[in-house]
Amino acid sequence: MSVQGFPPGRAAVLTGLGAALPDRVVDNHELAGRLDTSDEWIRTRTGIRERRIAAPGESTVDLAVAAGRQALAGTGAGADAVVLATSTADQLCPASAPQVAARLGLGTAAAFDVNAVCSGFIYALATAQGLIAGGIAKRVLVIGADVFTSLLDPEDRTTVPIFGDGAGAVVLRGGDADEPGALGPFDLHSEGELADLLWVEAGGSRHRFSDDPRDHYLRMQGTAVFRHACARMAESSRAVLDQAGWMVGDVDRFVGHQANIRILQVAAKHLGLPADAVVANIDRVGNTSAASIPLALADAAADATIVPGHRVVLTAFGAGLTWGSTLLTWPDVL
Ligand code: COA
Repeated sequence: MSVQGFPPGRAAVLTGLGAALPDRVVDNHELAGRLDTSDEWIRTRTGIRERRIAAPGESTVDLAVAAGRQALAGTGAGADAVVLATSTADQLCPASAPQVAARLGLGTAAAFDVNAVCSGFIYALATAQGLIAGGIAKRVLVIGADVFTSLLDPEDRTTVPIFGDGAGAVVLRGGDADEPGALGPFDLHSEGELADLLWVEAGGSRHRFSDDPRDHYLRMQGTAVFRHACARMAESSRAVLDQAGWMVGDVDRFVGHQANIRILQVAAKHLGLPADAVVANIDRVGNTSAASIPLALADAAADATIVPGHRVVLTAFGAGLTWGSTLLTWPDVL
C-alpha cells in the first residue's frame, strides 16, 4: 500500500481544470437601481463587486458542459464517470450529469449528481476519489455547476446581492498518493437540524406547491450562517491538516467556498493562516454555490496565484448544513 492506504495507481490525481461563466455581468450599481441596497453596503459586507447571471434559458447543464469541455481538453482524454455537484439541476428529475456526459461525447460513462449545495464540489471530489480508489472508474470528470440565481426572490435584498451563476470542473485520474495533484484526506460533515437556516420551503416532495411564491425561493438566516461557516471551515481544514500531518505553516493557499470575503478572512484567522494565503475571486463572481471552489482554482491557476508545488487546502460550507475539506499539492495543470 502507498501513502494514505491507496494501492499504487488508485489515488485520485488532479489533471485537468476548466471554468465557465455566463456572459452577463451584473454589478452592484445595477442591483442598487432596483433594490433597497447600495454598492457600498454590498462591497463592505460581502466583498462582492459584481456577479455573472445566466441568460434566460441558459442552464446548469449548459455551464457544466462548457467547464467540463475545457477541463477535458487540457488532458487530451475522456472520462469514464461524471460527477456533477449541483443543487440547481435542469430538472427536478432526472439528474443532470447524464445530459452533461452525453453532450461531452462521453458515450455511456457513469453519470450522477451530488447535492450538498455549496459544499457539493468537495463532496463530489470525495465521491470521485472513492470511485478511483475502488477501481470503479479510471478518470472522473468532477463538475461544480449552479444557476443558483434561479432560486432567488428577485425582490429579496438579503440574497440577490450575494449569489451568482457559473461552473468549474476538474479531471481526476488514477495515480500515486505521493505525486503532485493527489487529493489528500477528506473531512465531510452535516448538521440537518439546522437545515432551515438556508432553505427553499416548497417544490419538493413534502410541500409540493405553495400559492406564496416566496416559498419557492431561498430563505437565509445570514448572520447565523456566517457564524457557522467561519467555525466549520476552520475546524474542518484543521482536521484534514492533522490527518495529512501538515502544519498550518505548510499551507501556501487557502481556497475556501467564496460565500463572503469576511467569512474567508475569519476562517483563515481561526486557522492561524496569514491573510495573503486566502484565495478570493468573490469580488468578480459572488457566491456561485457548487461552482465556487473550482472557479476560484481556475482563476488562481490562470493568474499564478497558485503555482505548481503550492500546498493548497480546499474547504467549503453550505446549506444542509454541510461542510468539508481536502488538500493537495498543486500539480502542473492549466
Ligand atoms: N443592502 C442594505 N442593507 C441590507 C442589505 C442590503 N443588501 N441586506 C441586509 N441589510 C440590512 C439589514 O436589514 C440590517 O439592517 P438593520 O440593522 O436596520 O436591521 C443590516 O443591513 C445588517 O444586516 P445583517 O444581516 O446583520 O448584516 P451582516 O453583517 O450579517 O451581513 C450578510 C449580512 C448576508 C452579508 C452576512 O450575514 C453573510 O454573508 N452571511 C452568510 C451568507 C452566506 O454565506 N450564505 C451562503 C452560505 S453557503
